[in-house]
Order: sequence, then C-alpha cells, then structure tokens
Amino acid sequence: MEHSEKYMFKYKGIYFYTKYVTPELIDSLEEFEIRVSDVFLITYPKSGTVWTQNILSLIFHEGHRDETEDIHVIDRVPWLEYNLNKLDYANRPSPRLFTTHLPYYLVPRGLKNKRVKVIYVARNPKDVLVSYFHFSKIVITPDNTPDFSIFLERFLAGEVLSSSWLDHVRGWYDHRDDFNIFFLTYEEMKKDLRGAVLRICDFLGKELSEDDLDTVVKKATFENMKKDPRANYETRPGVRLEEKKCFLRKGTVGDWKNTMTVAQNERFEEVLKEKMKDLPFSYIWDN
Ligand code: A3P
Repeated sequence: MEHSEKYMFKYKGIYFYTKYVTPELIDSLEEFEIRVSDVFLITYPKSGTVWTQNILSLIFHEGHRDETEDIHVIDRVPWLEYNLNKLDYANRPSPRLFTTHLPYYLVPRGLKNKRVKVIYVARNPKDVLVSYFHFSKIVITPDNTPDFSIFLERFLAGEVLSSSWLDHVRGWYDHRDDFNIFFLTYEEMKKDLRGAVLRICDFLGKELSEDDLDTVVKKATFENMKKDPRANYETRPGVRLEEKKCFLRKGTVGDWKNTMTVAQNERFEEVLKEKMKDLPFSYIWDN
C-alpha cells in the first residue's frame, strides 16, 4: 500500500481520499443534522452512482427535465462526505438529495430514524471490479495500477478507496432493518429502466406524469447521459481524464468476461462464496 499512502488513509476500516476528508470530518458526520425529507443515495463506487444521481435529479427537478436549469447532477445530489465544508447544507431547500459511499456504520445517526429514504444501488461485483480498474487508470486515484491481476487482489482485500465491496454490500444488507431502505441493482436498471424509475418514484412517493416519466427515462439512458454535460464527469473540472477515455465507459452488464481470465474468475468466486455465502443474493452476471 506504500504507493497510495499519500493519497488515501484508512479510518474506521475504510479507505478515504486524503485530499477531501479527514478523520474529524468523518466523525462529525454522525451528528450531521438530518431532515425527514432528505433522500440518500448510497453505493459502493462504480455501481451506477452517477446514473442514479441523474435519475434522482430528473425526478425531483422540473428544471432539469425541461432543461431550463443547467446544474450538474453532482451539485444536485452532492456527495455528503466530500462537500461538508463546501456546501451550505443547512440552507439547502428540502427535499435535500445526497450521495455517499459510506458504510452503514458511518452515516449520520439521523438516518436510522427509519423515516429518511435511503436508496442503495448495488452492481454485480465483477463488473464493479472491471469498471473500478478502468476508472483507476483514467482518473488520478491512489489505487492506480496498470496490472489487472494486482488490482483484483487489492479489490478483494479492500485496498481501494471505499475499501471492500463485499463488506459494503453485506453491511448495508445485514443492517437493512435499521433504515428505511430500498435496494435496487444496476442490472435491474439496465433490464428495465422505466420499471426501475417507477419503483424509485413509488418508494419516494413521487408521482410523475407519463410525459415526465418518459423524459426521465430518455435522459437517463447511457447514450443520452454521455452527451449531457450535466450528467457525466467528462467536462467536470478537477477530474483528470486521460485523452479518449471516459467516465461513462461501456455501461453494460457482463463486461467482466472481456477482462477476467478463467483463473481470475475462479479466484474471485472463491472469495465471493466464502464472504457472501449466507446472503440471499442472486447476481446477474450477464445480459
Ligand atoms: P462501466 O465502467 O462498466 O461502463 P459510478 O457512477 O458508481 O462510478 O459507476 C460508473 C459506471 O456506471 C460505469 O460503468 C458507467 O459507464 C456506468 N453508467 C453510468 N451511467 C450509466 C447509464 N445511464 N446506463 C448504464 N450504465 C451507466
């Protein structure tokens, strides 16, 4: 881990960006004042976060749907932990929308009142791994390595930002009864985007007209998000993308098959079976 010590630090079991947060800031989140109307999007990295941020922004903001407002989705649904000192959350109008990669035990205490709505989006971990590998190459992340087999071991050991996928998903699932949580998967969104948007609206108690629903679905497709400067990081200052590489990379289910060898897949399965054995998850590995 020497290569990355400068960029990330481990606190309470989780690797964080040194650049954006401190242990004190993470501790202070516990007391962060929550409103009952707040909505939290929670993900492990590379699981469809920006996709769902875009969907939430479109659901809640007419000005996004009809393009009268030009606000980036990451400003609409900001990262709780990265913007604590930058954004005036206390004066943000309700409903406030937040995004976080935090594990269940580091989120604000107020989330546990079971009234605040929490949407957890999970993606099959092999696609997360591959997406994370590419992401670590195109942005300047601490866990950067050109060698997939090294990245695979780091991923399985939780030696990447946000630490272990297995612990993240397992933790949130095991503690689901402490929260008002709606679980959704990337693969469900891929299979039936309209159905997924409807289920999100249902959970949020938001009723959209058929026209508005059509707009949300249309603007949330991979192709349209790629073209939409509000919905991708490609033109975002501070995100250093290598030439010709992009944040919205492939947006498919099953891309891991193009990257992982048979032996790497077996190694992955072995760890997955051991760590997740008693969970009723059925992963969707392919389209
Ligand atoms: P790939 O690298 O497999 O293409 P996150 O936002 O959590 O970092 O996740 C990024 C992943 O979500 C990337 O996966 C990205 O392409 C994918 N993604 C983003 N928007 C999407 C969309 N509208 N449809 C499908 N996948 C999308």
